[in-house]
Amino acid sequence: MADNSTDFSVENQEKLKKLMAHYRCAIMEIETKFRVLDEEFSLRHDRNPISSVSTRLKSHESLIEKMKRKGLAVTAENIENNINDVAGVRVVCPFTDDVYVLAKALTRQNDIDVIRIKDYIENPKENGYRSLHIIVAVPIFLADETRKMRVEVQLRTIAMDFWASLEHQLRYKKEIQNEEISGELKSCAEISADLDRRMNSLRNSIIQ
Ligand code: GTP
Ligand code: MG
Repeated sequence: MADNSTDFSVENQEKLKKLMAHYRCAIMEIETKFRVLDEEFSLRHDRNPISSVSTRLKSHESLIEKMKRKGLAVTAENIENNINDVAGVRVVCPFTDDVYVLAKALTRQNDIDVIRIKDYIENPKENGYRSLHIIVAVPIFLADETRKMRVEVQLRTIAMDFWASLEHQLRYKKEIQNEEISGELKSCAEISADLDRRMNSLRNSIIQ
């Protein structure tokens, strides 16, 4: 965003700044919800269903690029209405079952609106990518108002995260057409899915 002053009016700039602050608040709300669930779960089961939580706010550069791609003017209103992943929370779990337990525990909460669920674990992407994506709207409580903000929640196992991180480095959003490489990446994804299934049943046979 090298020359944002020429792109936006001062008024719009202020609105955008405020909007991004609201997304940061929404990230805090969602992160706290997962920390609470992890705490409760570890009390009850003596084990943590969450290995790590990481968060990110979409950068100005990729936000502007995405708006351009959608042919929309970069206004606070357009961003709020059209972009679901300005705020992102990624939750990495040991086992596949943990992913669904946490997803259920989040989406059943009274203040959470589920906007969309994409289950790439049940239905992996063509390249082998797996994760559970849930777009939610969460209220943030400000001094004079309550606002509902959208957050993209990605839940995945350690194995899914391992694969996605490496694949991201190698390929994501780069145009790699080489079939041998794609095939090899997909095969690695299948091996990791198999590992998840085996570890999950091992866990079930030990715990129940
Ligand atoms: P975007 O416009 O890129 O956000 O995609 P989308 O709106 O179609 O959403 P989708 O739920 O498919 O993917 C959103 C996010 O999931 C991406 O920003 C990545 O963080 C992650 N993701 C999706 N596909 C892949 C993939 O093939 N590889 C990796 N490493 N990550 C992926
Ligand atoms: Mg995205």
